[in-house]
Amino acid sequence: MTRHADHTSSQFSGLGLVHRPRRNRKSDWARRLVREHQLSVDDLIWPLFVCEGQSIREPIASMPGVFRHSVDQLVEQAKQARDLGIPVIALFPYTPPTLRDADGSEALNQNNLVCQACRAVKSAVPEVGLLTDVALDPYTSHGHDGLLQDGHILNDQTVEVLVRQAVVQAQAGADIIAPSDMMDGRVAAIRAGLDDHGFHDVQIMAYAAKYASAFYGPFRDAVGSNATLVGDKRTYQMDPFNTNEALHEVALDLEEGADMVMVKPGMPYLDIIHRVKDSFGRPTFAYQVSGEYAMIEAASANGWLDGDKAMMESLAAFKRAGADGILTYFAPRAAEKLLKR
Ligand code: PBG
Repeated sequence: MTRHADHTSSQFSGLGLVHRPRRNRKSDWARRLVREHQLSVDDLIWPLFVCEGQSIREPIASMPGVFRHSVDQLVEQAKQARDLGIPVIALFPYTPPTLRDADGSEALNQNNLVCQACRAVKSAVPEVGLLTDVALDPYTSHGHDGLLQDGHILNDQTVEVLVRQAVVQAQAGADIIAPSDMMDGRVAAIRAGLDDHGFHDVQIMAYAAKYASAFYGPFRDAVGSNATLVGDKRTYQMDPFNTNEALHEVALDLEEGADMVMVKPGMPYLDIIHRVKDSFGRPTFAYQVSGEYAMIEAASANGWLDGDKAMMESLAAFKRAGADGILTYFAPRAAEKLLKR
């Protein structure tokens, strides 16, 4: 065995240290052997945007590498998810402006974009799980997640609509309903609505701790709600300065029957993910949102950081914080890297 002498002096016999943490980092195999957390393809949920038309793949300027796909193209993306082993895709529609109204009524159309996409993906790629977002913002002319009256978002009336939206999505084949609206009491109401219609096995992943965040900007470009949004969402999404309130929100959603909970955004809220997982020990997901993706991509495009490495490091952070899985626009890229190893 070769001994690595200290190069500064051949006489130097070392510090007599008992603890040398660097030993466990001396090579790739040694680092892998003691690695505390793992990221696998099974941890990934891939959000995808759907638009009208045929053979369409429309770039989103603020999210380089992300596209809006027409339903036929979306099916191809779902096949890619299957081939990579990504368990779930999440669908978000770009509703044509002419179909947006004050009540978001297109959300209840059984033939809206999301429902068409669900049916097409379910029949072509039944192996992939389908998550659909419940909230009215892609459908309302004012860009809010709920019904708006005299500048106020109506809670209970909105919940009634959300229940119907969830049932319509389940009828189209959604496997996981993900309410992202932050209305009070919606999880219990949606659970009851799904059960009434025989959808006992449709899961609910609650956007339980969702903050009023600037990091959703590029997403709102993607679904076209930036152009329409009147005011902000601070009367329903959470104040970024709060922690205990997040635990309260999560406790309520679990009590109301959520099967899984989510914290959103991701990287600026790792402390919340950690506390949620620690306090409840239930399936906990992080949403690495559009603005987080855009930041990494923008810096990488400028040559300011290595995009692939920053991507993997950001995903490692979620696992370290305690997340069971991550919704991320990086899903296919990360999956390819993970499978190549
Ligand atoms: C809609 C919704 C939003 C996101 C997911 N669902 C935006 C918002 O609440 O304004 C954001 C996702 C992202 O930024 O990637 N309720």
